[in-house]
Amino acid sequence: MAGAANKLTPPDAVAAVSAGQPVLAQCFEQWRDAARQLLAHDIAPHAVQWISRPGDGDLLAGIDDAVARPRAPCPAAGAVQLPRRLVDLLQTAARFRADARWALLYRVVWRWRRGERDVMSAADPDGARLHAMVKAVQREQHDMHAYVRFRERPEAAEAPRFVAWYEPVHDVLAQVAPHFAARMGGATWMIATPEATVMWDGAALHSLPPRMRGAADVDDAGEALWLTYYRSIFNPARLNRRLLHSHIPARFWKNLPEGAVVPAMLAQAAAGARRTGQAPGVAERPGSVVRIAAGGAGPRRGGGDGDGALAQCRRCELWRHATQAVDGAGPATAPIMLVGEQPGDQEDLAGLPFVGPAGAVLERALALAGLARDAVYITNAVKHFKWEPRGKRRLHKTPAQQEVDACRVWLEREIERGQPAVVVALGATALKAVLGDAGATLKQALGRPLRHQGRWVLALYHPSYVLRLPDAAARQQALDVIVAGLARARQLRDGRDGRDG
Ligand code: URA
Repeated sequence: MAGAANKLTPPDAVAAVSAGQPVLAQCFEQWRDAARQLLAHDIAPHAVQWISRPGDGDLLAGIDDAVARPRAPCPAAGAVQLPRRLVDLLQTAARFRADARWALLYRVVWRWRRGERDVMSAADPDGARLHAMVKAVQREQHDMHAYVRFRERPEAAEAPRFVAWYEPVHDVLAQVAPHFAARMGGATWMIATPEATVMWDGAALHSLPPRMRGAADVDDAGEALWLTYYRSIFNPARLNRRLLHSHIPARFWKNLPEGAVVPAMLAQAAAGARRTGQAPGVAERPGSVVRIAAGGAGPRRGGGDGDGALAQCRRCELWRHATQAVDGAGPATAPIMLVGEQPGDQEDLAGLPFVGPAGAVLERALALAGLARDAVYITNAVKHFKWEPRGKRRLHKTPAQQEVDACRVWLEREIERGQPAVVVALGATALKAVLGDAGATLKQALGRPLRHQGRWVLALYHPSYVLRLPDAAARQQALDVIVAGLARARQLRDGRDGRDG
């Protein structure tokens, strides 16, 4: 990482110990340098007191004198040879926030050097503590991957475009930063924490000073949409408070956007709204909206309906219960074409693809992958909304194979007309529509570009799959796959085979 933190002058650990002073270690590297000196002078663990911050325990008074005192030169640090696995364990455990970490690490290395190989095993008391710390740090890294929420600053003139606030309980920011750099492609971002801040400028990571809570407070239209969706899918009749808390531990709620609305929804459910909790939302739903004029200021429509023929399509029965056929949108000759399954409830009413909740996920993924929505052409394998009534709601129903087959002519027409270099199939139905019956399954092709009829075809999860997943970690992982795939589509568009990063 550029400007790596903690480039501190190593204190003279041996001098500090002989003066009865504690040894300062603020990071793994500093601890390692001190430990090498101490081991070289055969100083036993019980003789060393470690501290993580200068000034801890008032014991540092006089340290400068102690350090200045002359002493025997330190034998070569190379004298300590540790196996790679032990070094990895030590490095990971060093990120566990507890003052006792440095003493434990030193005891482990000291014992190892004396031939006590059991010290690496979880059956040994020190080994068990070391493994528990490693596990906690890994868990924290995993949680941070899952629960960091970026907010977009689309109006900001300078980087970063996405900002997030997070409060890790261990020192894992530097470890998770490369994950976000890979996931966000060319988009610039910053993650602020109470202890440190990291920024990605699109090419390199930078360490910045810590920020105050609130550093990531921005108005994000995507987040507002997500909250509307979150509220609308909340079903008080199915509330399981224990499950909810076990899926997302309480400490994460405060920094998750949906965390702000959950308490009110829980209270509403507890106040007897279990039977009728969704009724107000359903009652507010507008009736069918009939689009009067195509085109205008909205997103440009694409290839299928150039002559109005799509609007009259009667190739299968789906038209009977749909408001209208939904054509593709975006520049008809865009080099990247995204193909979904079929319009949903909101798309059917608006006459545009991906404008509902799945569209919000897609839009976010596009932004994270560094692709502008209006630079891609977005369409569906099936052009009419297939649904079944559920109370007052119209619930999506997966189109049958013969409906996909009947509609393929429109998709072929759009591909023929646009000649995209890359077709991204969102979900299994789209993949089948693009490759035909003999093509690969979604499982086989997920994220792997295929050559098909002279162009790249890349299969990804459908955005609504992300919304259906029960817990935040799984949702984040699925979103990551989509974002990485879209970034790859961008590389393929640019003439790279997508394997070079
Ligand atoms: N799902 C799709 O596959 N397409 C849309 O347009 C909306 C939701």
